[in-house]
Amino acid sequence: MTEQPAPYGTPSTPATPSPRRRRVRIPHLQEMKQRGERWSMLTAYDRFSAEVFDEAGIPALLIGDSASNTVLGNDATQPITVEEMLPMARAVSRAARHALVISDLPFGSYEASPEQAFATAVRFVKEAGVHAVKMEGGEPMLPQIEMLTSRGIPVISHLGFTPQSEHTLGGYRVQGRADGGDALLASALAAQDAGAFAVLLEMIPAELGARISGELRIPTVGIGAGAGCDAQVLVWQDMAGLNTGRLPRFVKQFADLRGALAGAARAFDEEVRGGSFPGREHSF
Ligand code: KIV
Repeated sequence: MTEQPAPYGTPSTPATPSPRRRRVRIPHLQEMKQRGERWSMLTAYDRFSAEVFDEAGIPALLIGDSASNTVLGNDATQPITVEEMLPMARAVSRAARHALVISDLPFGSYEASPEQAFATAVRFVKEAGVHAVKMEGGEPMLPQIEMLTSRGIPVISHLGFTPQSEHTLGGYRVQGRADGGDALLASALAAQDAGAFAVLLEMIPAELGARISGELRIPTVGIGAGAGCDAQVLVWQDMAGLNTGRLPRFVKQFADLRGALAGAARAFDEEVRGGSFPGREHSF
């Protein structure tokens, strides 16, 4: 019998969960905080990025509304819709065998009421298979956090610079400087009391990030919030050097994916034009 080609996208290594690595669950992240072990989170919006990060051992993957910029080409996070995010969240959930999968709730899909937040979060859990959701905002979102967590949907509260409120905040600015960060600490403690399992802190002074992390019993996930946070998150295209545009100070590029991809594209183009691709081994 002639060998049939594997269906497109079949992983080169079997995609069975390794017996040594279990699914990351929220209590594992809490235990890591107690042990003083740091952990990482990356955004993911599609199958292959999620597969790669999951296999690399990243314990938490976020379908961020940054997909509005990184995938859809908008210049802000506000335009992305639930309908646009759901298929991305579904793809990441299907691909991630070990990581905890968290989705942002997009702007306008949860702020009006706890009921609205619950209805939207249920769609992400049922239709996309995510394990938890993230929502932006302090005090006014406490009823939403209580509603979701008391009904079985874990929540990360996103505080500090919240991109969905960019215009209210007057642009991309470091937050929490005004009163020495007391208000931000109070919001983080209130989110914890409302049931949030983690707090994400964006663009705040490093000292404040460390102070909040020391006061909370739940983990803090920092992005531009200093080394004192329990975890760190980055947008993957920033982290891997696919996005080489103007980047915030908190981004470190760990690879030159744009260079690697451009090199591959140029090599393909040259071989097509020179007639060396496809070769006999690529022909039937
Ligand atoms: O949407 C996003 O990517 C985020 C970042 C904080 C990682 O919320």
